Amino acid sequence: MTETKRKRILSGVQPSGKLHLGNYFGAIKQHIALQEEGECFYFIADYHAQTTLGEAVRLELEATRDGKRKPRSGAQILQENVRDVALDYLALGLDPKKATFYRQSDVPEVTELTWILSTVTGMGLLERAHSYKDKVAQGIAASVGLFTYPILMAADILIVRSNVVPVGQDQVQHLEMTRDMAGYFNSTFGEVFPLPAERLDVAAKVSGTDGKKMSKSYGNTIDIFAEGKALQSSVMSIVTDSTPLEEPKNPNTCNVFALYKLFATAEEQASLAKLYENPTQDAVSRKGRAFGYGDAKKLLLAKIDVFFEQARAKRKELDANPDAVEAVLRTGAAKARAEARQTMALVRHAVGMAPAPVVD
Ligand code: TRP
Repeated sequence: MTETKRKRILSGVQPSGKLHLGNYFGAIKQHIALQEEGECFYFIADYHAQTTLGEAVRLELEATRDGKRKPRSGAQILQENVRDVALDYLALGLDPKKATFYRQSDVPEVTELTWILSTVTGMGLLERAHSYKDKVAQGIAASVGLFTYPILMAADILIVRSNVVPVGQDQVQHLEMTRDMAGYFNSTFGEVFPLPAERLDVAAKVSGTDGKKMSKSYGNTIDIFAEGKALQSSVMSIVTDSTPLEEPKNPNTCNVFALYKLFATAEEQASLAKLYENPTQDAVSRKGRAFGYGDAKKLLLAKIDVFFEQARAKRKELDANPDAVEAVLRTGAAKARAEARQTMALVRHAVGMAPAPVVD
């Protein structure tokens, strides 16, 4: 076994609705690839999701005010979102034989560690958290839970004594805070936690249909598991400039081309770039028409369809088999929980709550 093989890798995913191309190329793809590199723990962060569940209920009531359908309860929303993440990840290649996949709340030791870590966390540290300030600025109620979110996240990471945490840039500050808490704990009570390092997703920046960063909050997403008409209409809605059909177009500033690059080989990219630059080339095959943005969108649509074809089939299969999905999460939870118990035995001993643990 190599050094990297033994590394423990952990990441959490918020259950917050439909996944889009930005999620895939920004995070999921790397998570799946890392299964080959170390011992992976991936979990669905349902305790974290509770910090915004009130907001989700409020939005649900708003969205159903016309009476066309009944609003879902908070419990239903959370359950559906958790199930969606589980299906999405398993369909996209998370292999439960390689990675431990679980629901955060099935490892309740996390909350006990959150308490203990809260006693080594300065108020000032939390007050500096960007994500807290951003969420409050977005209108999410400033609960104590939202404020202490970074401690819960540190507990997720430290409870299985992770070494590497693959995250996006927006989570780097949370990793710094985690190291701060772990370091303070270790120096006060003795070495228990390795200091985890972030591993920045070498992600392609994925732009949305309007050219801004793809994000649910901008409403500019293309969903991975959208199909048929729904997928077609989001691809067709990609914003392009008003260069006339016959005029040369610039691939490097085009939102369609930017997305196409995520799916296409270098050769395919080069040949599409040529069509942009010389739109009357091969016009014969288009019944004399020049190559326009609509044609580029169709090529992109075909690429997306082929790329996710298998994952879609797999997702449908899983969808019809809820017991199997539940079994995966339970098996994962049992493994994660065994680790968590060992960590808590060390922690409890270190702080004077329990005798020395027997650790294997
Ligand atoms: N805060 C992360 C996000 O919003 C999700 C998360 C929760 C997480 N716990 C974690 C990520 C632990 C990595 C490690 O994306």
